[in-house]
This record gives sequence, structure tokens and C-alpha cells, in this order.
Amino acid sequence: MSALAGDHQSYWMETAPPGALHPPLDSDLTVDVAVIGAGIAGLSTAWELARAGRRVAVLEADRIAAGVTGHTTAKLSVLHTLVYARLRRTRGPETAKLYARSQTEAVRRAAEVAEQLGVDCDWEDTASFTYAQEPSGTQELKAEAEAAREAGLPAEYVTETGLPFPVAGAVRVAEQAQFHPRKYLLALAEDLVRQGGIIHERTRVVGLEEGEPCTLRTEGGARVRADDVVVATHYPVFDRALLFTRLSPRRELVLTAPIPAGLDPGGMFITPEQGTRSVRTAPYQDGQRLLIVTGEHFTPGTADVNARFDRLADWAREQFGDLAFTHQWATQDNDSTDSVPLVGPLHPGSRHTYVATGFGGWGMSGGIMAGRLLERLITGQKSDWSDLYDPRRIRSVVGEAPTFLKTQAKVARHFVGDRLTSVAGGSVDDIERGDGAVVRVGGHRCAVYRDEDGELHAVSARCTHLGCLVAFNSAERAWECPCHGSRFTPDGDIVQGPALRPLEKRDI
Ligand SMILES: Cc1cc2nc3c(=O)[nH]c(=O)nc-3n(C[C@H](O)[C@H](O)[C@H](O)COP(=O)(O)OP(=O)(O)OC[C@H]3O[C@@H](n4cnc5c(N)ncnc54)[C@H](O)[C@@H]3O)c2cc1C
Ligand code: FES
Repeated sequence: MSALAGDHQSYWMETAPPGALHPPLDSDLTVDVAVIGAGIAGLSTAWELARAGRRVAVLEADRIAAGVTGHTTAKLSVLHTLVYARLRRTRGPETAKLYARSQTEAVRRAAEVAEQLGVDCDWEDTASFTYAQEPSGTQELKAEAEAAREAGLPAEYVTETGLPFPVAGAVRVAEQAQFHPRKYLLALAEDLVRQGGIIHERTRVVGLEEGEPCTLRTEGGARVRADDVVVATHYPVFDRALLFTRLSPRRELVLTAPIPAGLDPGGMFITPEQGTRSVRTAPYQDGQRLLIVTGEHFTPGTADVNARFDRLADWAREQFGDLAFTHQWATQDNDSTDSVPLVGPLHPGSRHTYVATGFGGWGMSGGIMAGRLLERLITGQKSDWSDLYDPRRIRSVVGEAPTFLKTQAKVARHFVGDRLTSVAGGSVDDIERGDGAVVRVGGHRCAVYRDEDGELHAVSARCTHLGCLVAFNSAERAWECPCHGSRFTPDGDIVQGPALRPLEKRDI
């Protein structure tokens, strides 16, 4: 039993639904810059470049701001759990300072843009907290408060928060914000078009040829020539620097419920404890606030998602009392091995191709920062933090090696291990209606889904990205790849990359 009966729907998608379709690209096009992907990173980049006078085209496989960005929790915060102590330890205090400056600039930029464009995006200034309930967690919070303060942030260590349960300690950073990400980004997209920018939805890019100009090939066959190309597809669909060895996907669950305004904890909260718990609220009807809780992170394709929704719902009810949940959804972000996003040139030899990825659960400020940084790089300007985010940066053995090795061990387990130890023990007959499983049919591993009418849908269980085996997420009715997070419908169509081709159909 999941926390909520019925469909999974994001509150942001429901309250700012997609408008008229920006038509798919059906003929060749030439622009200054082509941006692939219309999440917060892609749209922010396109908008900044259009403002700088570039002719920009955005190519989006689905609808704009409907990927991870349409399913986020939309805290615009520079306090990224425990990043400052980690950066100070692994890359030194100057790096921590640059990180703080770049993220602060992004939060301010969002405020500026919302005001300039007159966007009503439920903007609220508020403070951000990282807290611990276990006394054993207070040491690292004290270190984080100190590192964040040293990095120039208005940070302090506190023991009182507005949360309705006691905490052992917390880092508090003032002057942060929360907003409605789709209201903000739909307005940004509208302004982009006003400035001569072009948007094509339902236009999946499947090929990239680098050169002067670069050429993109879309699934429908149209080509786009562009002096510069930005890959802002969340997990990069074109990866010529083995970025996939430095990124791991992490899926998380979100639940919302109205609460009386008097119960609003008045801030944005996160704890790394209990598999992450995050809390914020948003304006809601009848003088209430909408509580938004997040947590239960896991690698895609490896969890009983319904059970995790229940666990998150139980936790929210324990903390906030009797709740009537209105929305539930899940989404995923990519962690980089050193906790710093990868934003800049796509690979060591790249002259005109760029990437923005690895936001580690903080892509609101991260995506806006990426837009500013890429605009500067593409227009030939300098940025103080281009080295910090450069995807070609040298790995720090202290900071990165353990996470890197863990990521690779996990991928190897799913790539090789799944093939040796059969995950395909059962038979097609064992699959219940509304469920799916990987089973062996005629010597091949097939991903088989039985729909509510009892009909079977079979596709290859081999992910079209790099060949790991997919697994079924019955709560969301999707095939998920644990290696780099590609997701597919029960019939094998792509829901989320990096895969560029659907799962192959199988006859059984
Ligand atoms: C549960 C959860 C809560 C979060 N909460 C916060 C928060 O409170 N604050 C915060 O700062 N961050 C948060 N994040 C992180 C943040 O939401 C993400 O980092 C951010 O939305 C990523 O934006 P993006 O533009 O990179 O990706 P997306 O929004 O996914 O955009 C990528 C786009 O590329 C398109 N695409 C993919 N492949 C192709 C292709 N081949 N051709 C054309 N288009 C393609 C996709 O359809 C998609 O629209 C959260 C993440 C999770 C998982
Ligand atoms: S997403 Fe990379 S192998 Fe599936």
C-alpha cells in the first residue's frame, strides 16, 4: 500500500501545467548556440545567452521544465547540507569561498530576474537549515557552520529551529529563498522567445558532431547547426570524457499535505540522517501552508518504492500530526564524486561543446549558476569559478577517490554481477497484474510487464545506454537502470536519459 492511492503527480506540474506546445523541430536550423534540455540549467543558460545577444535554440525531448526541475522541492539555498566543511577539507578554504560566492550570486540572480520579469512565482525569503536529531551529528554541524561562515555566508550554529520536534543542533544560513520553479521557468521561457530565442519541444537530440559549426541530429531527422552547443540533459546524453564514472543517480520521494499556517516551521530544513529528510512549505489555499517533505533516497531500480513512500508518510505524520496527503512523486538527481557540479567544457579537447550536470540535489541555485557561468564562457568572458566547476578538473585523491571507487563498484555489480547471479529466477507466470520482472525467456533476459488487463509487454532487459540490466519500479510503473539512472515506460520508451534509444521489443 502506498501513502496515497492514485497517480503520482508533482504539485508544481499540477499548479503550473504545460501550456501550448512549442512545436517539434521539423526542418534544419542554424543558430549561434543550441541548448539541449529545457530544465533549470538549460533554460537559464539559454536565457542568459539570449540576453547577451546570441541567437539561441532550445531543443527539449519532452516538455519544458517538466523533467527533474518539474519535480524538485525548489529551495533556493546556498546551504547544501554539509558541503562547506567537505570543500574546506578536500580543496581548501579558498575553494569553499568561491563555491559560496557563486551560489550566492545565483540566488540573487533568481531574485533579480523574478523582479525584472515581474514573475509571480510564490517567492519567499527565508532561512535554510541543516539539522541533526542525533547528538552524534552535532560535531559535523559545528564544523559546517564554521566552514560556511569562513566561506563568507551568514551562517550560525543553533539548537532551536521552527521544527515541531527537538533537534540536537543545526546550521542556519539566513537570506535564502524558496519559490515555485515552474512559474519562474515558464516566465523565463516566455521572455526567451520574446527576445528571439527558439524553443522546440518533443525534439529529442540523438547525435552530436563537433566542429565549426557543430551539428546536432534529432530523432525526427532534422539537423541543427550551431557555433556552440550546451548539453543540459541532466545526465549528459553525450559523454566524451567518461563523466559517467563521476556521476551517480540518486532517486528520492516527495509528499505534500496542507497544514495550518500556525504549524509552519518557517524555513527550509534538511538532515542527512534517516536516508535524508527535507522539509519546506509553500503558500496554499484557505490560509493554509503546503508541507513538502522529501527523503528515502535510493539508487534507481533497487528499492521497494511503495514501502519507502509509506515510511516517509509515517515519519511526516509522526512529526506534523494527522496529515491528508495531496501529492506524491519521485525524482532523481546526479551526485558528482566530489560534491561539486560539473559545468564547463564537455571534454578536454572541446572548443565549442559544454555540459551542466552533477547538481547533487542542489540544482536550483546550481542550474542558475550554470546559466551564468556558461554564458560567460561562451561569450569569451572570464569567471572566478570556471576552474572550480570545470568538468576536466583533476581528481582530488582525498576528496574523491572513495566515492569514485564506490560508484564504480556499484556499476560493475549491476553490469557484471547481474549477469552472473541470475536476477531472472522467476517465470512470466509469476508476474502479477500491474507488476514487472526480469525473466529469462529462450536464453535471453527479458523485462516483462503484465498490465491491468493481464496482457504482457516484453522488452529487452538490457539498458540501451551501456548495457546494465534494468529493474521494475512497480510504484511508478517504470523500468529503471541502476547504473546511470535511465528510465523507460513498461513498453520500453525513454522516460529519462542518458539512454538515447528505447528498450528493444521482445516477442515472448
Ligand atoms: C527529490 C529532489 C528534491 C530536490 N530539491 C531541490 C531543492 O530543494 N533545491 C535545489 O537546489 N535542488 C533540488 N533538487 C535538485 C534539482 O531539482 C536538480 O538538480 C535540477 O532540477 C536539475 O535540473 P536540470 O536542468 O539539470 O535537469 P532537468 O530538469 O531534468 O532537465 C533536463 C532536460 O533535458 C531533457 N533531455 C534529456 N535528454 C534529452 C535529449 N536527448 N534531447 C533533448 N532533451 C533532452 C529532459 O527531457 C529534461 O527536460 C532536488 C532533487 C531531487 C531529486
Ligand atoms: S543508464 Fe547507463 S547503462 Fe543504463
